[in-house]
Amino acid sequence: MSNKIILASSNQNKLREFKEILEPLGYEIISQRDAGIDIDPEETGTTFAENSAIKAKAVYEVAKCAVIADDSGLEVDYLNGEPGVYSARYGGTRDDKVHNKIVLQKLEGVPDEKRSARFVAAISYIDDDGRLSQFIGKFEGRIGYEERGKNGFGYDPIFMVGGISSAEMTPEEKNAVSHRGKALRELAGYLSSTKN
Ligand code: IMP
Repeated sequence: MSNKIILASSNQNKLREFKEILEPLGYEIISQRDAGIDIDPEETGTTFAENSAIKAKAVYEVAKCAVIADDSGLEVDYLNGEPGVYSARYGGTRDDKVHNKIVLQKLEGVPDEKRSARFVAAISYIDDDGRLSQFIGKFEGRIGYEERGKNGFGYDPIFMVGGISSAEMTPEEKNAVSHRGKALRELAGYLSSTKN
């Protein structure tokens, strides 16, 4: 078995996070771009798990070697799970400021106990032989009343956990409890248990 895994993304932050956790286990993580694979399949799934599988399968079909893909987003209970799989393009834009404004507006006047929300991350791993495994991580919190904090990205400034927003956590604090951190550690555990 080769130790090379292609990450079906060219996002540098994701690449760094995956490298930090998987390289100590002896895996070499290569971005899709560095592997010379120039595809961007349409994310037509209705769940994070489906979308991460779509991305991983598309790259596996071309590369025929181990692939990881992830998909993530925010689910707000009061909005019946919105923005969900549309998190990155909520309201028809990729502008995080606009996304946060829309969520805050839709929750105007909604009391604390109905502002529950969670980040979800789904990781799909396809091994060299084409077998798919999936790992889901969740990060529970609630939607605040204003943007707070300068760290993180996306919906972090409006996502409150125990009195602070996830944009007020250090990257280490967030990784220890976040959806992506949990899913990644599950993947790492799986890879360790199946290695040679
Ligand atoms: P992806 O790159 O397709 O997984 O897009 C996920 C989208 O969900 C991002 O553009 C963000 O809007 C949102 N998102 C996912 N994880 C986080 C997080 O940890 N903090 C804030 N926003 C997140």
